[in-house]
Amino acid sequence: MKRVQLAAVEADESDDNLVLLVEKGKTDLLHGVLQPAEFDFLQQIAGREINTCFFPRPTGTVFIRILKADKDPMAALEAARLAGTELLRELRNYKIESVQIRSFTETPRVLAFAEGLALASYQFLKYYTQPEKKEKALRWIRIAQPGATLEEVQELDQLVEAVFLARNLVNEPHSHFTALDLAAAAQQAGAEYGFEVEVLGKEKLESLKMGGLLAINKASTVPPQFCILEWKPAEAHNKKPVVLVGKGVVYDTGGLSLKPTDGMDYMKCDMAGAATVIGLFAAAARNQLPVHLIGLIPATDNKIGENALSPGDVIRMYSGKSVEVINTDAEGRIILADALHYAKKYKPELVIDFATLTGAAVRAVGTQAICYMGTAAEKTKKQLEKSGWETYERLIEMPLWKEYGDELKSNIADLKNVGSGNAGMITAGKFLEHFTDYPWLHLDIAGPAYLRAANAYRTKDGTGVGVRLMYRFLKQY
Ligand code: BES
Ligand code: ZN
Ligand code: ZN
Repeated sequence: MKRVQLAAVEADESDDNLVLLVEKGKTDLLHGVLQPAEFDFLQQIAGREINTCFFPRPTGTVFIRILKADKDPMAALEAARLAGTELLRELRNYKIESVQIRSFTETPRVLAFAEGLALASYQFLKYYTQPEKKEKALRWIRIAQPGATLEEVQELDQLVEAVFLARNLVNEPHSHFTALDLAAAAQQAGAEYGFEVEVLGKEKLESLKMGGLLAINKASTVPPQFCILEWKPAEAHNKKPVVLVGKGVVYDTGGLSLKPTDGMDYMKCDMAGAATVIGLFAAAARNQLPVHLIGLIPATDNKIGENALSPGDVIRMYSGKSVEVINTDAEGRIILADALHYAKKYKPELVIDFATLTGAAVRAVGTQAICYMGTAAEKTKKQLEKSGWETYERLIEMPLWKEYGDELKSNIADLKNVGSGNAGMITAGKFLEHFTDYPWLHLDIAGPAYLRAANAYRTKDGTGVGVRLMYRFLKQY
């Protein structure tokens, strides 16, 4: 199964299917490009609420897409992505595998259109016996836009590949994807894209006394893995690394605090943070992003069994702090805490963690936003929020006021792992904060990481959320 590919080309009269992108009110630009009868028809419909039409020609179909103007540049970009998504539906109806986009609008909008089209074309078919029967293949998006450089289009192509990689990892069912498989996938991505990967196995983690990760792994039949990724370009803009941490719970049963049946299938997505980190590293290495990055992925499943961690247990974290585990389903924060402590050894400039951490985040904002919080500078937060609007992977900040932390006081250990129940995503953040001593941001992606139904170019199931956001953010870093 080959993914769609994007390439920059010179406009030519080849027999490819054409997509002509034009702004509302500017269809005159197509004079001379269309045949006279086609142009007349277009002029007739141009004033109406119709935004797409197409003309079959002997050499292929010509699709015309009229984009509405929008004063807000971020909304205009998103509208172009959605227009690309809509076009995919038409292309699939006609089983079209290849298009050449010729645009009569600005370069960013054309690239966004192509991005929406490409991202929407993702399919995960590997477990069908006859995947080719299910495939609706769009293979080529050729972009003929003098303003778009070869490099720009290639960069977009690689970014799409990285998002697909992240989606693939999330969509893998747990039966085929244990912590060992996650570590192997990180190593394979490292070899393929060109970044370093080191994996610490159970014995090493025991000698390090990484007690949080080991405790969550107690009932598992598969040993925990701790992956360390590094992308170190020759000319990095940063002296001290940026560390990205991803929650790698390959399956979350809740442990002895067992989850209810409804929605349990959802919990194969609990390594989406790890997938984001791996996808981001793939994009960074392929596109030679000039930022020194370290990635940390604590990986395990969260299972039940005779050795399982029990509610009420006290564990010793990697940092040395003791934690009273009130609820074994609040496992993400425990393994992340060990990774956040590990991050200290890099003296990082900034640490960002990605985690499907709380149902509270889903209830608060649904699938449309990432809830984030942290101690990084205001400037960094604003920059990240801006990248959120640019990629439409939007963020909303939550307060980390110290009063929320009071809920984590335990009368038997340094901390307990859950608060009172209210503001659950904030108390989770407060828990993590205890294990940081550097500028830090926590991104709770539980809402947008996994979708029950496709939402435009965010396809069903794993979305790869965070890859485009972080790539954009780090590119401007
Ligand atoms: N993996 C879940 C969070 C989650 C919920 C992710 C829904 C994706 C969709 C996490 O480990 C969890 O179970 N959190 C608990 C914490 C609670 C016990 C304090 C939750 O949010 O219910
Ligand atoms: Zn859980
Ligand atoms: Zn979890």
